[in-house]
Amino acid sequence: MQRLQKLLARAGWGSRRACEEIITAGRVTVNGETVTRMGARAAEEDDIRVDGTRIKLFVGHVHLMLNKPPGYITTRVDPQGRATVMDLIPEELRMRVFPVGRLDLDTTGLLLLTDDGELSQRLIHPSHHVMKEYVVDVDGTPSEGKLHSMRHGLKLEDGFTQPCEVTLLDIGQGESRLRVIIGEGRNRQVRRMFEMLEHPVRRLKRVAMGPLRLGELTLGEARELSEAQLMALREAVNLPLADETPDD
Ligand code: URA
Repeated sequence: MQRLQKLLARAGWGSRRACEEIITAGRVTVNGETVTRMGARAAEEDDIRVDGTRIKLFVGHVHLMLNKPPGYITTRVDPQGRATVMDLIPEELRMRVFPVGRLDLDTTGLLLLTDDGELSQRLIHPSHHVMKEYVVDVDGTPSEGKLHSMRHGLKLEDGFTQPCEVTLLDIGQGESRLRVIIGEGRNRQVRRMFEMLEHPVRRLKRVAMGPLRLGELTLGEARELSEAQLMALREAVNLPLADETPDD
């Protein structure tokens, strides 16, 4: 048996506080009876409904991979009401997950969203050296000398960048495509590095984060990680392969 507000929170109805309000408002039934009493308990097997709709409990953590389109802000809530990445994920998961790190407004590609705070912390923290891979289109074609200095570290206003991998993939009409792999995640880092080299970024797409690759995911699509993807991700940040988060 668990407190009703906890079961509702586990089903994505909001924070426990928000769920308490749903209960006191008389919107919740347990096995057909309206329950408004604070502290009431119920079992997972009970028929628990909010406004008549049976709740669905989530088991374990949620991990989603999104192919972020341009024009969406990486945040849970935007006070100005602009489009956010949360608009692109299934409604019942919105209250639960948060983005892991950030992609700029016009950056596209792989963004992970989860409710697993520890995994998220580790993926973001530079000590775990989770490599982020980008495909970037820039103005003109950077010289081999410029790419060499980028590989070895550039002096930005917040200090030298760590060594990174840079490969010229293609030269087009007035622009070039490169692959950049960095272990850091400073604010607008890839854009600032190319600005420093006087080859401003035209398009930026993240294609991989550690062992996770964007693959076939179409723009705007969000999908739950497979078991194999999750295991690989946990292994990359030295987490045990089974998640043993206690229930209470
Ligand atoms: N580097 C950037 O400059 N922007 C991003 O969105 C991600 C990495």
